[in-house]
Amino acid sequence: MVHSTANTVIGVRTPSAAYDVEIGEGLVDDVGARVDALLNGGLRAGRQRAFVVTSAEIERLWGARLEDSFRGLGLGGIHRLLVPAGEEHKRLATVERLAEELAQLGADRDSVLVALGGGVLGDVTGFLAAIYMRGIRYVGVPTTLLAQVDSSLGGKTGVNLAAGKNLAGAFHHPMAVYADTATLATLPTAELRAGLQEAIKSGIIRDRELFEFLETQRDAVLAGSPEALTRVVAASVRVKAEVVNSDEREGGLRMVLNLGHTLGHAIEAATGYRELLHGEAVAWGMIAAVNIAASRRLVTGAEAERMARTIRAYGPMRGFSAAASELVALTAKDKKNRSGTRQFVLPVGIGDATVVKDVTEAELMRAAEDVVNEAKGLGA
Ligand SMILES: NC(=O)c1ccc[n+]([C@@H]2O[C@H](COP(=O)([O-])OP(=O)(O)OC[C@H]3O[C@@H](n4cnc5c(N)ncnc54)[C@H](O)[C@@H]3O)[C@@H](O)[C@H]2O)c1
Ligand SMILES: [Zn+2]
Repeated sequence: MVHSTANTVIGVRTPSAAYDVEIGEGLVDDVGARVDALLNGGLRAGRQRAFVVTSAEIERLWGARLEDSFRGLGLGGIHRLLVPAGEEHKRLATVERLAEELAQLGADRDSVLVALGGGVLGDVTGFLAAIYMRGIRYVGVPTTLLAQVDSSLGGKTGVNLAAGKNLAGAFHHPMAVYADTATLATLPTAELRAGLQEAIKSGIIRDRELFEFLETQRDAVLAGSPEALTRVVAASVRVKAEVVNSDEREGGLRMVLNLGHTLGHAIEAATGYRELLHGEAVAWGMIAAVNIAASRRLVTGAEAERMARTIRAYGPMRGFSAAASELVALTAKDKKNRSGTRQFVLPVGIGDATVVKDVTEAELMRAAEDVVNEAKGLGA
């Protein structure tokens, strides 16, 4: 198939895995052939089988094209497993049901799963692949911006427990990721905008050019221009891949990917994950981080202003209701905290960030109060 724009391929190379993330428009039509090639023709020869895991919503929008790409490859093409959409189904019970289904369908150690959908589908499918027969292969076909730039690569898979998000899981990398930017055309605008906050994050922590592209090309990006989105996704994936390549298990550097997430996670938890999308909460967290960095003179006033303006430009910033003191208390519980120290990611100029361990409670309180007061004015 002929693509209107050239695809970008970015390698993830860690001590435990080596795979490519391919980004392009219309890629969903090529997944079958790509997977078969990775398996040395195992599908075509009938030695291996593929199973797509998706939701009914995504199936309706993009399932036929993906499944068509497997037609003629092996025994009866690809088999389909459905998961209801929504974070509430990212549970062990879902994984158990899917594993039983796989067993009933005769999936074996050489079978391959294809995760078609957003981050929820990707996390569930990756975890299913990690544990089914002690681990089988899977590929990601992420269909949300968040999944394309973040959750589909890096190897973290898992589900939620009643006690908290992502508390049960495994490290299990996909064998490839195919990010088709055309699939973003059907994504609700709020989801697109929220996902773009993660791209802004990538620009701020490591890629000044990406930041400036987002800063100056907002209208094209928000209008869903395939060229603009492909560029944004590719640059964001490159940032995440580089960080993961040098720090697979979050020993240090991988922490910078958490810019805006310490307070963002606190806002999500304080509002019961119901008021804001993840990226919207991260946007508030990044504003707070930018403010702290400005008062510490890690960034100039002009840089802080540019970063805050760009974050807001991909809004609207949406209100939420939580007390600053509650947010500060919740940050102390952040899973990423090691033995009592409060780690915090702060920008150092535009395109660089650092992890600091000495952000005081007073500093954090001030930043949280600013954000809470502004959010209150917007009405939850
Ligand atoms: N594993 C990781 O490293 C990692 C990193 C970040 C986030 N996550 C996880 O990702 C999840 C969030 O992912 P998400 O934001 O993609 O949410 P999601 O998977 O819930 O998708 C959001 C919504 O968009 C719909 N959707 C998906 N693709 C669509 C399309 N192309 N057109 C129309 N609708 C579409 C979905 O059905 C859903 O309703 C969370 O569970 C989070 O914990 C994981
Ligand atoms: Zn995030």
